[in-house]
Amino acid sequence: MSTESRVRAVTTFRLSEMKQRGEKIAMLTSYDYSMARIVDAAGVDVILVGDSAANVMAGYETTLPITLDMMIYHARSVVRAVERALVVVDLPFGTYQGNSKVALDSAIRIMKETEADAVKMEGGEEILESVQRILSAGIPVMGHLGLTPQSIHKFGTYTVRARGQAEADKLVRDACLLEEAGCFAIVLEKIPAELGRRVAAERHIPMIGIGAGNGVDGQVLVIHDMLGINQGFSPRFLRRYADLHRIMTDAVEDYVRDVKVCDFPNDAEQY
Ligand code: KIV
Repeated sequence: MSTESRVRAVTTFRLSEMKQRGEKIAMLTSYDYSMARIVDAAGVDVILVGDSAANVMAGYETTLPITLDMMIYHARSVVRAVERALVVVDLPFGTYQGNSKVALDSAIRIMKETEADAVKMEGGEEILESVQRILSAGIPVMGHLGLTPQSIHKFGTYTVRARGQAEADKLVRDACLLEEAGCFAIVLEKIPAELGRRVAAERHIPMIGIGAGNGVDGQVLVIHDMLGINQGFSPRFLRRYADLHRIMTDAVEDYVRDVKVCDFPNDAEQY
């Protein structure tokens, strides 16, 4: 791919225009080359190399164990496939919460080694200094508020966040701080729809929801969940667009049967 063709059609500026026009933003996760090619060609605006790779690719219970090296491996594979969408990469747990110098080093590694377009970070006021330092190096940052899975051991549960007034007020404040710092968009995860609608209306940057209702500026889902590959996860916000678990299981079972009965390969399938 030439340097010129690496400038992808969807930019952070384009996302801001979409919000102004009221055009909804479609975002999905991807973690590997083949999936990212399909997702990009199908017209998704933003591809997130999420740290949910820890769950759906590596089989961990939480997103905490995934490392920067693992994220870089996934992001490189995705970037090689993508021609149109903006590619955002999660900064994994432990690579930005400590201090802003460590955070900047982590973000620079992602940008240098993967050629992605932006990084995503979970949290508000607590990580503001790191967000500011990364932004000042010219690296676009997407925020992530509401249910922030890297803090699961603090929350103790994956239930809806910000139902109470104090937590809702903090989320509203954090969204304002992240916008003022220069973030280009924010993911709002698992919060009441009314709160999502309010934050999207008050802020000028796009709010991308996952379980945040229909009043936000776009939606994001984990690709393995929406394709029905991952069957063990059925939150209310998830719409399944396919049952790939069934389709793939049937195909593999057919293959096993064909091999066992000597039906594969047949005459046309050999040299
Ligand atoms: O890691 C991820 O997939 C995410 C989405 C759920 C937004 O952060």
